[in-house]
Amino acid sequence: WPMLWFCSQALFFLLFCVPSYCTSCPEQCQCTNYSEATAVLCSASNLQEIPRDIPKDTMFLKLDANKITAVPNSTFRHLAHLQEIDLSKNAIEKIDSAAFKGVADGLRLLDLSGNHIQRIPKEALVNLNAMIRLSNNPWHCECTLQEVLWEVKLDPDSVNETTCQTSVQEEYTGKPLLHILDSRFCNMHQKTTDVAMFVTMFSWFTLVISYVVYYVRHNQEDTRKHLEYLKSLPSTRVPKETIS
Ligand SMILES: *[C@@H]1O[C@H](CO)[C@@H](O)[C@H](O)[C@H]1NC(C)=O
Ligand SMILES: *[C@@H]1O[C@H](CO)[C@@H](O)[C@H](O)[C@H]1NC(C)=O
Ligand SMILES: *[C@@H]1O[C@H](CO)[C@@H](O)[C@H](O)[C@H]1NC(C)=O
Repeated sequence: WPMLWFCSQALFFLLFCVPSYCTSCPEQCQCTNYSEATAVLCSASNLQEIPRDIPKDTMFLKLDANKITAVPNSTFRHLAHLQEIDLSKNAIEKIDSAAFKGVADGLRLLDLSGNHIQRIPKEALVNLNAMIRLSNNPWHCECTLQEVLWEVKLDPDSVNETTCQTSVQEEYTGKPLLHILDSRFCNMHQKTTDVAMFVTMFSWFTLVISYVVYYVRHNQEDTRKHLEYLKSLPSTRVPKETIS
């Protein structure tokens, strides 16, 4: 009997789940079609992690106001039709570098606001075309975050509420995140080129100075020798003449 039960379960799964990659909805979520666009609504459902069985034709995924703490690698890789991911108001601290791997170019909005994110790997966001909301997170402002900001499209409406909670440079603490795009915040490249330039100039300068010094010394010696020679000429002649 258990065998029969198992077989009927397997048959049920094969018949109804596999053809459309299990159209069933994740347990705590509601799945609806807004004029052909599948929306998966899992807002405020006490979720501690992102459900694995999200239907693959999902376009709108609402996971806001849960207790999600991490976005692991390839979480959304089966979801090629995603246009919006709302992960706002969770407890996300950790986002893996390949977290959004496989998310299609069609993604228009990624909402990560209201989480516990201090740092995010650059690779996680660079290939996304989506508008990204990063406000209300305890951002730690440092050079890698500046690099992230150069690469992403920040949502203009929330940009003013996105601030540095902590910072490698104290005067940026509490300031809008966009202020760290200032070249004074992290002009690493500029600094190194400046140093290289300075070293090169200094070397040239030293070379020129040494050459001048050498030249002058050498000439001095020559002129001295020459003068001595000139001086010696009459002085050697004169005694000779006086002797003779
Ligand atoms: C939503 O529409 C798709 C086709 O566009 C269909 O396959 C799916 O069963 C529909 N889902 C619901 C919950 O109505
Ligand atoms: C996530 O993927 C990246 C690159 O693909 C890899 O370096 C990293 O170790 C992965 N992280 C985890 C937790 O598997
Ligand atoms: C952000 O703040 C600046 C001044 O602090 C203001 O000029 C700008 O319009 C604000 N942007 C938005 C989108 O609210």
